[in-house]
Amino acid sequence: MTLQEEILRRRTFAIVSHPDAGKTTLTEKLLLYGGAIHVAGAVKSNKIKRTATSDWMEIEKQRGISVATSVMGFDYRSGVDKATDVTYHINILDTPGHQDFAEDTFRTLTAVDSVIIVIDSAKGVEAQTRRLMEVCRMRKTPVMVFMNKMDREGKDPFDLMDDVEKELGIRVTPMSWADGQGLKFSEVWTRGSEQWETRIAEADRELLNEVYPVFDQAEYLAGDLAPVFFGSAYKTIGVQELLDFFVLNAPSPRPVQAEERKVDPMEETFTGFCFKIHANMDPNHRSCIAFFKICSGVFHRNEWYTLMPPPGGKPATMRFSSPTCFMAQKKETVDEAYAGDIVGLPDTGNFKIGDTLTSGEILHFKGLPSFSPEMFKYIENADPMKQKQLDKGIRQLMDEGVAQLFVSQLNGRKIIGTVGQLQFEVIQYRLEHEYNALCRWEPLSMYKACWIESDDQAELDLFKKRKAQYMALDKNGRDVFMADSAYILQVAQNDYPHIRFHFTSEF
Ligand code: G4P
Repeated sequence: MTLQEEILRRRTFAIVSHPDAGKTTLTEKLLLYGGAIHVAGAVKSNKIKRTATSDWMEIEKQRGISVATSVMGFDYRSGVDKATDVTYHINILDTPGHQDFAEDTFRTLTAVDSVIIVIDSAKGVEAQTRRLMEVCRMRKTPVMVFMNKMDREGKDPFDLMDDVEKELGIRVTPMSWADGQGLKFSEVWTRGSEQWETRIAEADRELLNEVYPVFDQAEYLAGDLAPVFFGSAYKTIGVQELLDFFVLNAPSPRPVQAEERKVDPMEETFTGFCFKIHANMDPNHRSCIAFFKICSGVFHRNEWYTLMPPPGGKPATMRFSSPTCFMAQKKETVDEAYAGDIVGLPDTGNFKIGDTLTSGEILHFKGLPSFSPEMFKYIENADPMKQKQLDKGIRQLMDEGVAQLFVSQLNGRKIIGTVGQLQFEVIQYRLEHEYNALCRWEPLSMYKACWIESDDQAELDLFKKRKAQYMALDKNGRDVFMADSAYILQVAQNDYPHIRFHFTSEF
């Protein structure tokens, strides 16, 4: 196969949903169709339930499994695509469903070329899905929707379509349908099929034709139109229809914008960026794995590559004797991987999220989104004998992107910023179990962390001096103003008109 053929047959996407909408069930059914697994129930969900603390601890213990499933690659030959007879290579990226890990999900979205959103038809679009959709819109990511659990009593399909269109903010069009009752259906009719013409009540069909546009692939690829499939992952209704339509229409790897230029996947030389680091995948070996999305060309085992340095640093060359790819649940050493694939590289502390790796060209892929932390706590050492372990643990978990670290300029205390309470629990648990360190949280009432910059150095210096008690440094040594109320922030913004206040570290 030529490089071009290899890349064109790749489909790298994420399935995102609210917890319990059916993401794990759908993923499993897709793997079954691909022949990657043979029995249902083989995929361990890495979802974390807030209600049962023991649940996620258990999952943490099974980390080997849950992480191996965070990327799933498999081959699929579509029956409907006989003319071209392509065997597609599918990479599914798993995302944690829990909202406290939204940041993880957003970062995963930077590594995919399209997204399938799973919605529980009984619940409709939920707040968190709405936020995800905003990110997709911002990035112009093509989206398909799977309206799951249609085997249950639920809302009318027309109402569901309205709901999705309103909440997702882009046009939608149904690609499958069931009877007009919308309740408890056991089969779906694909658009254009004979059943679509004969089984849908005439009034409904007229309405469908009137209200919803004909599917247009170009509009879908531009992120302006989302095809919607109805079905049930559990009962395996409408899943193959979704998969066949997906491989045919979803994008192969797309160009990626770097600071210097746009990188086309078909370029022969390798480039990629790190979107995720996972520490201690195997508790028996203190190893980290850095997940790289390949943006162009081919990655080869044992070839020398260049890691782009942070500003002012020197590029480092390195090669990898055991890069891994993920086939279904198995992790395998690979000799080569193509644009669109995800490779796992063993990490001994060399990588940070957002790092670019190339065949030598100086290139920096644009920053990954980093979200504004919403909760803050002081982190304190609860075991004086283990200070070193604690420091190391905090450093690695922050590199992994679990949360954000700030060091107060006033008293040197460490502050952790998260988007949800569960993240604090996970940090504490992982520090204890992976680093043998104990921590304690102390409350801190804080409104926002603002990264500040200005072209007026004198004003910036004055601000930092006057607000010294509110100043902190992030882990890259950048200035952060920790506003403890909306009012304080407002006053600061009014008093210092030349200072720009950013609410994420990416600007
Ligand atoms: P998630 O990964 O998005 O969190 O959801 P998951 O697939 O784990 O599904 C959540 C629950 O919804 C599961 O039930 C699952 O069986 C059920 N489910 C998924 N798809 C459908 C569907 O199409 N119809 C119906 N009726 N139910 C569906 P559970 O009781 O939490 O787990 P389990 O006992 O089935 O394992």
